[in-house]
Amino acid sequence: MDRLSIHGGGPLNGVIPISGAKNSALKLMAAALLCDQPLQLSSMPNLADTRFMARLLEQLGVRVDWPAGSSVCRLDAETISSTIAPYDLVRKMRATFNVLGPLLARIGHATVSLPGGCAIGARPVDLHLKAFEAMGADIVIEQGYVKAAALRGLKGAHILFPFVSVGATEHAMLAAVLADGETVLENAACEPEIADLAFCLNSVGARITGAGTPIIRIQGVSRLGGGRYDVIPDRIEAGTYAIAAAAAGGEVLLEGARGEDLVSLIDHLRLAGVRVVAEERGLRVSRADGPIHAVDVDTAPHPGFPTDLQAQFMALMTIADGTSLIRENIFENRFMHAPELNRLGADITVRGREATVRGVRQLKGAQVMATDLRASVSLVIAALAAEGETMVNRVYHLDRGFERLEEKLGRCGARITRLSGSI
Ligand code: UD1
Repeated sequence: MDRLSIHGGGPLNGVIPISGAKNSALKLMAAALLCDQPLQLSSMPNLADTRFMARLLEQLGVRVDWPAGSSVCRLDAETISSTIAPYDLVRKMRATFNVLGPLLARIGHATVSLPGGCAIGARPVDLHLKAFEAMGADIVIEQGYVKAAALRGLKGAHILFPFVSVGATEHAMLAAVLADGETVLENAACEPEIADLAFCLNSVGARITGAGTPIIRIQGVSRLGGGRYDVIPDRIEAGTYAIAAAAAGGEVLLEGARGEDLVSLIDHLRLAGVRVVAEERGLRVSRADGPIHAVDVDTAPHPGFPTDLQAQFMALMTIADGTSLIRENIFENRFMHAPELNRLGADITVRGREATVRGVRQLKGAQVMATDLRASVSLVIAALAAEGETMVNRVYHLDRGFERLEEKLGRCGARITRLSGSI
C-alpha cells in the first residue's frame, strides 16, 4: 500500500487542469449497456473506480476500448453476454450496482450483488429497488444478490422518492429510458451529474426532460443507438483544489472548473475570506494574507453544500480564526477524518452528526491514515497547510477518485512524494 509524504507550509501557485467527473463517468459507463451501438466517452478520468467499472462491463460482454492513460473510452454493448454482476466486483465499488437497471431494461433480467463501497454509513439500495418494482420488475434478494426480472419489459411509472438520492434517481432514470410509456420521478436529486447523464442518454435517443430539477419526465423509447459524449468536469475535484489553495495560500487557476456547479462552496469560501473569480478558462482561487474566517457548514443535496466536500472544508476550518460548526446531513459516520486531523494538531469534537472545529494557529505534520476517498484528500489539504512532514498512509482511497493528484499539486509547488508500501 502506497503512502504520501507531504512537506507543508508552502503556497500553491499555478494551473490545475480539472479531470472529467468520476461520479458522472461511472453512470455514463453503465448507460452504455442500454445502447446497441458504441458509445464513445471523452474526458474520461483515469481512476481506479472508472477502470474497475470498465472491467465489470467487460465481464458482461461489453467491448471496451480504453488505452492506458487515454481519456477517450469506447464502449460497445451491441451484444451482452452475461447479466450477472458478481460479489467480488460489486462489493469493491457501490456504483457498479448501477448496471442492474440497464440490464433489466435491455435484457429483461439481471442478478447483481448488493454493493459495498465507502465506509461512510449503511448506504442501502432500497429506493433503487422500489423504483424498479414500481416499473413492474419482480425483485428477490437471495444470498446477498438482487435478482430482478421484467420478462415482458418495464412499464413507465410515477415514482415519488421519500428523500433525495443521487444513485436512486440516476438508476431509475437508466431503467426508465427503455420502459413502455412515461415515467415521472418526483423529489429527484438535482446534482449536475444527473443532468449530464440525461444529456448523454438524450444524445443517443432517449427522451428525458427536467433532469437537474426535482421532477424528471422520461418517455420510454424502444432502443438507444450510439454516439459520442464528453463527461462534465469534476466539481468535487475542482472544489477540493479550491479548498487546498485556500488552506495553503497562493493562487491557482482551476482549468475547466464550472462555477455554476459549485455555488454553495464558492459562497462558503468567500465568507471564509477566499477570493474566487470565474474566468473563461475556469475558476481562479486565491487567498489574501489575512486569516481564514470560521464558517458553519450544513451538507445538503445539490444545490446545497456537497457532502463530498465536507471533509476538505473541515480541514480548512481547522486553521480558521474562530469556531465553526459542521453538520453532516447526508451520511451517518462521515467524520472519520476528524480524529486524523486532530493528529495534525486540529481541535475537533464530534457529537453525532455535528462537528465543532476550533481553529488553531498552526497544524503540525504527523503520521495519518486515509479512511475513505474524500477523507483522505482532506488529510492532504491539512498536510499542505501544516508545518513539517505529514505521512498519509493507505492512499489507495485517493487513487479511486483523484487523477494524478501528486502531479497536479506538485506542479503548483507542493512538496508531495508517493512512497511504495506502508508501515
Ligand atoms: C452519490 C455519490 C457520492 C455522494 C452522494 C451524495 C456516486 C458514485 N456517488 O452516492 O459521492 O456522496 O451521491 O451526494 O455518484 N439511501 C438510502 N436508500 C437508497 C439510496 C440511498 O437510504 O436506496 C441513503 C444513503 O444511505 C444516504 C442518502 O440516502 O444516506 C443519500 O445517498 P445517495 O444520494 O443515494 O448517494 P449515492 O448515490 O450512494
